[in-house]
Amino acid sequence: MTRHGARMMLERLNAQAPDALLALIRLYGADPREDKIDLGVGVYRTEEGDTPVFAAIKAAEQRLVDEQDSKSYLGPEGDMGFVNALMPYIFGGDPTMGGRISGMQTPGGTGAVRLALALAQKAAVKRVHMGVPSWPNHAQILADLGLELVPFDHARGDGTADLDAVLGAIREAGEDGAVLLHGCCHNPTGIDYTPDQWAAIAEAFAETGTFPIIDVAYQGLGQGLEDDAAGLRMVLAKVPEAFVAYSCDKNFGQYRDRVGAFYILGASSDALETAFSNANALARACWSMPPDHGGAAVRIILRDPDLKKQWLAELDTMRARMRQVRDALAEAGSAGRIDLTPLGSQNGLFATLPVTKDEVARLREEHGIYMAASGRINIAGLTTANLPKFIAALAAVAQ
Ligand code: LMR
Repeated sequence: MTRHGARMMLERLNAQAPDALLALIRLYGADPREDKIDLGVGVYRTEEGDTPVFAAIKAAEQRLVDEQDSKSYLGPEGDMGFVNALMPYIFGGDPTMGGRISGMQTPGGTGAVRLALALAQKAAVKRVHMGVPSWPNHAQILADLGLELVPFDHARGDGTADLDAVLGAIREAGEDGAVLLHGCCHNPTGIDYTPDQWAAIAEAFAETGTFPIIDVAYQGLGQGLEDDAAGLRMVLAKVPEAFVAYSCDKNFGQYRDRVGAFYILGASSDALETAFSNANALARACWSMPPDHGGAAVRIILRDPDLKKQWLAELDTMRARMRQVRDALAEAGSAGRIDLTPLGSQNGLFATLPVTKDEVARLREEHGIYMAASGRINIAGLTTANLPKFIAALAAVAQ
């Protein structure tokens, strides 16, 4: 209390719960059990349980240290060499679609999502339709911006995507609505739309004029770089305008260096220029400019044929290992009442198991197995060595 009896300013704040996913990192670290298993936060792990720096990144960083001659400011758009070098991988053979796509660098994929939603809001979007469950931070960013979240079911109970629900959302969104989709490797379910479903989604966007926002955080971790971008490209080919949020945190293993990009598809180059003048102003007011280091390393890789080859090989190894884990889970068939077979045809780092919060707690307390309360597991946390323990624990808990 102050002298005049009013509450101190900081006393007016309510305590917030720590981000549940990030809190798991600390909980896991504090567990002394040798055979504990971390299936929590979404980072790739090797068969040995490590998350090493890509060799291609190490080499590019070395070159950066040797050759960088200034750390002077760039601008709110960051390193455009990085932004442009990524575009053929994301958008394909005509990466600017005749000058209608351009981008800017952001602090991680989160920065790109934040910027996409803030810019949509500036363009009078009031509601964002989103398949649930989704990455929890999507909802947090929407709430922070004061945008309404209109949920629809992402998946059916049989482990496939719910096409009718997404088509319904696209039809319903209207002029002041937008629809946020995951480009590939859906987080947290691993359930992606099939090519036929993407074709129907693209058609629905084209027919209704609804604004698409596509979050691509895991390109290359699902079926391959090209296949993982196919749905996104189908949508962009059919619509006049769209936003794309992109992350290099996973496919270049740059997690803590925060490497992302935000792309806009505009109806014309003039529209694109105006949109970017707004995006730059938002970025300037929020983070001024993105951190440079990680994006510069990606730029160096993508411009050097040998480093590029090395990066692609490292990405292939990651994808093959996750596919192996998925195959092993599917082969196991079931654990208790949990059917594991759908996991074999899903994509990327994540799957969501139909377990209760109590069962998640028991897996943690009784077996040292850490996963999100939603039942999401990080597939890359499983190895040949710990898979039998995981399946046996799941069977014991989920009867
Ligand atoms: C995750 O979902 O685990 C990752 O995307 C990490 C994060 O920032 O939440």
